[in-house]
Amino acid sequence: MSRWDTLLWVLLPYIALTSFVVGHVWRYRRDGYTWTARSTQLLERRLLLVGSLAFHFGILGVIGGHVIGILVPDSWTRAVGISDGFYHWMAVIVGGAAGLLLCLGALLLVYRRLRIDRVRATTLRSDWVMYPLLLVTIVLGMLCTFVGGLLDEYHYRETVSPWFRSVFTLDPKGSLMVEAPFVYQAHVTVAWLLYAVWPYTRLVHVWSVPVGYLARSPIVYRAKRGATRTALR
Ligand code: HEM
Repeated sequence: MSRWDTLLWVLLPYIALTSFVVGHVWRYRRDGYTWTARSTQLLERRLLLVGSLAFHFGILGVIGGHVIGILVPDSWTRAVGISDGFYHWMAVIVGGAAGLLLCLGALLLVYRRLRIDRVRATTLRSDWVMYPLLLVTIVLGMLCTFVGGLLDEYHYRETVSPWFRSVFTLDPKGSLMVEAPFVYQAHVTVAWLLYAVWPYTRLVHVWSVPVGYLARSPIVYRAKRGATRTALR
């Protein structure tokens, strides 16, 4: 492996992961009050509703696809009777559909942020780094699925996936990435950069999904006047 390969496929993942973990701890301790998506719902609702729903449903599908395609070894899916051919077509059809929904949502959200003055005025400096990285990661991911998956039929589960897992077993097999097609190399490189800046952006809100809402006791909201009248009675 050249020095460049070592930098991209061995060092970059650890630099990004260190920034990701340390950055989240630092942000939580130092800046807990800004740990939010900084909602602009009060400034514009319609585009946000469509864009945000498409983006979040799309990303759930894409995350599911990444977990099965990257974290689960291909030998496991074969062992439960899923053939490589079936897996491949499911990845293209289901992964592609989720990716298209994600693209639609992301484009709408970015359009809204750029074209609606009130929303644009709330844009942070970190957004100008995060949004381009997010969009480029998504577009390159789509190219992996449609160009790598349809035209080339490249088997990334034999290279990209074991390499990704090897990073977490602290035995990074960078050589697996050296021969991967450029779109895969570019997609994962930009994704690591996105992970590196993640804690310093509004993406931290991902870890504040209000799951507790599902189990907590209901809160009864009443209008103030009504409440006063009830109390007087
Ligand atoms: C280093 C981490 C990542 C790796 C190793 C990775 C790897 C891959 C691979 C191999 C594919 C092709 C899947 C297929 O054709 O079946 C893909 C597709 C895709 N990736 Fe990633 N990815 C990573 C992070 C991300 C992130 C952070 C995002 C978005 C925020 C993203 C968005 C997408 C999208 C939209 C697709 C196309 C739709 C799909 O197949 O689900 N990826 N990725």
